[in-house]
Amino acid sequence: MSKPRVLITRKIFPEWIDEVKSVADVDLWEDELPPSREILLEKSKGIDGILCLLTDKIDSEFMDNAGSQLKVISQIAVGFDNIDISEATNRGIPVGNTPDVLTATTADATWALLMSAARRITESERFVRRGDWKTWHPLHFLGQDIHSATIGIIGMGRIGFEVAKRANGFGMKILYYDTNRRKDLEEKLDMEYVDFNTVLTDSDYVSLHTVLSEETYHLIGESEFKKMKKTSILVNAARGPVVDSQALYNALKNGDIWGAGLDVTDPEPISKDDPLLKLENCVIVPHIASATVKTRFEMSKISAQNLINGITGEPLVTCVNPEVY
Ligand code: DGY
Repeated sequence: MSKPRVLITRKIFPEWIDEVKSVADVDLWEDELPPSREILLEKSKGIDGILCLLTDKIDSEFMDNAGSQLKVISQIAVGFDNIDISEATNRGIPVGNTPDVLTATTADATWALLMSAARRITESERFVRRGDWKTWHPLHFLGQDIHSATIGIIGMGRIGFEVAKRANGFGMKILYYDTNRRKDLEEKLDMEYVDFNTVLTDSDYVSLHTVLSEETYHLIGESEFKKMKKTSILVNAARGPVVDSQALYNALKNGDIWGAGLDVTDPEPISKDDPLLKLENCVIVPHIASATVKTRFEMSKISAQNLINGITGEPLVTCVNPEVY
């Protein structure tokens, strides 16, 4: 009997590709860049499962094109805004993701961004590399204090809570806003639930940890920046479109806020001519918050296991839409 056919849209840790190969015929897209839409559709015709990335749009057109034998969509990421979940659910297709294993790693990276922006790390490093460091100067590269400041976390999910735990170590006051008040977490950590506006007006650091949805698209725009402290710093390790990029540029340029640390941008990748890249007070890294050896290995493992379970009819290890069962 022939093996099921699967498409893996980018290289992951090779051990996990081998694991998938033990049960399926694997079509592995090895290029550095994602397959074009045309190629993705062409390659997915007749597949039993796909291991995809946040750069692959998995919508009804994709599912129609793949065919009714498609048994599983396994995403190597915790976020899944590139996948039409209700469409997959309607068709009884389980969707897997990779939560938990990246929570602490992403929280660490959020802190790296926060600290880089607050203490002007990347800006001053560029200064050194340019050969501009001539002397120690009492007024050079003055940043913002982190210890004892107030952090406002928008989105108190797994990653938001890990970010809060780290803030505790810095002796910070922790505010948070989420559509669901998390009294269970408030019992574990001294943090205060406030409304969205108060997070903006009272925080020295505003850190975003929401999903991207219709409700959170451009959640932070011109009027939100105007409410923030002029000394405040915005950190976005969630999804680029949660922030209105043009408004962010204006706020950083006009001094409505003091700095920003971005793991994500809108669009991704950011164009090399994007005006945000001209601003010294904006730290930008290429969506690397979960990128450690250990975490990406674990993400490879879970996404491969979800793919295997899906094509062999077993429940997924981590399933976004368990109602399909
Ligand atoms: C995710 O998992 O959703 C991140 O954006 C990439 O790790």
